[in-house]
Amino acid sequence: MLNSPLKGVILAGGLGTRLLPLTKITNKHLLPVYDKPMIYYPLQMLVNIGIREILLVTGGNYAGDFLRLLENGEEFGCSLRYAYQRGEGGIAQALRLARDFAAGGPICVVLGDNLIEKNVLDSARAFLAQPGGARLLLKETDHPERFGVAALDGDRILRIEEKPAQPPSNLAVTGIYFYDATVFEKIERCRPSRRNELEITDVNNLYIAERTLHYSILDGWWTDAGTFESLQRAQALVAAGGANHLPAAAAAGDREK
Ligand code: DAU
Repeated sequence: MLNSPLKGVILAGGLGTRLLPLTKITNKHLLPVYDKPMIYYPLQMLVNIGIREILLVTGGNYAGDFLRLLENGEEFGCSLRYAYQRGEGGIAQALRLARDFAAGGPICVVLGDNLIEKNVLDSARAFLAQPGGARLLLKETDHPERFGVAALDGDRILRIEEKPAQPPSNLAVTGIYFYDATVFEKIERCRPSRRNELEITDVNNLYIAERTLHYSILDGWWTDAGTFESLQRAQALVAAGGANHLPAAAAAGDREK
């Protein structure tokens, strides 16, 4: 467990249009993944590394359902706050809403549709041992063109490409990010992308330009759950057992760089 000021941020905004019609009457992150709502998994992931103060950013028409489901976080042993994102202007736009909550301290950000098998305690410790900057968790994938992809030179990340037609590696940037407080100033420097979103990949590339971006390789399985295919995959992985939603003791296995 961490004994640190690290706070957690879960980004669960967006309209989930890739899962229509399922998302016509609820928020994507409230859909079931096997025996629990999707949002339980990133929440438990943060709690499992010892984070006790968490901000949930959501949006759309069903934001109130998160309050009814999660209340103040007591069931998870954490203190939950909420923020509302208007529209779906991108992951970095949602993260921008966490500025006051972070209050100048370091944060662990997790996307609300990301699920992992093991815990990320070693990566959290490695991040807290850094002089500042950011740390990403990378994972080998058979479909790098669906994700942010890291181009590496040995232990250094040269750049990150968002959904590249010709991926420079098979290492996807997972939706788990550790940031120092400069992340908010970097978001302000970003401009909307071609899909009219503030991209988290642009933020990460600003850290690379400063040479303050580090990474760990995630051990165990990882999946998002934002498409029918990946949602089904998430269901199957959780049903097969060993997911990080199990309280605390899941084995840590991430390797630092
Ligand atoms: O899953 C990892 C990938 O997530 C990364 O490899 C990519 O670099 C990153 O851009 C992201 O890609 P996706 O295209 O999968 O992101 P998506 O639009 O599906 O959003 C993922 C989550 O982020 C979503 O479940 C909720 C949150 N989000 C997204 C948007 C667009 C927000 O909170 N607000 C938003 O406006």
